[in-house]
Amino acid sequence: MKRIAVINGPNLNLLGSREPDKYGSKTLDEINGLVSREAESLGAVCEFFQSNSEGELVTAIQRASDADGIIINAGAYTHYSIAIRDAIAAIAAPVIEAHISNVHAREEFRRISVIAPVCMGVIAGFGPNSYILALHALLRQGD
Ligand code: DQA
Repeated sequence: MKRIAVINGPNLNLLGSREPDKYGSKTLDEINGLVSREAESLGAVCEFFQSNSEGELVTAIQRASDADGIIINAGAYTHYSIAIRDAIAAIAAPVIEAHISNVHAREEFRRISVIAPVCMGVIAGFGPNSYILALHALLRQGD
């Protein structure tokens, strides 16, 4: 069975109450539940991790290096964390960068991703479905 790690960064633990106009009303637990059920229906299993700390996210990426794929929403770290970029570049597992909001339709600084060049691809702007789409992309590699 394929194992996918789903890693969420800073402030994503506040989903549900955090700026619902931008991020919707579902909590992270609810989103993880949807992703987990989708994975099950596709014959895969997901492991979930969230942290507000850059170092803990780096460690989570290193620990997930033997997974079949990683979905990461690095939150604001996306835009400036070289440590997270280096962690992704250091492992062989394919990584998809996911965002709930369309980062390209917001502030200028959100258009920059320092992790995108070392990811397999980027999915942004589909709400919680961004995670589901990333899951499909990872599980359909090679099709
Ligand atoms: C986000 C977009 C980021 O710019 C922001 O800092 C977040 C959430 C998203 O999922 O849309 O924390 O990654």
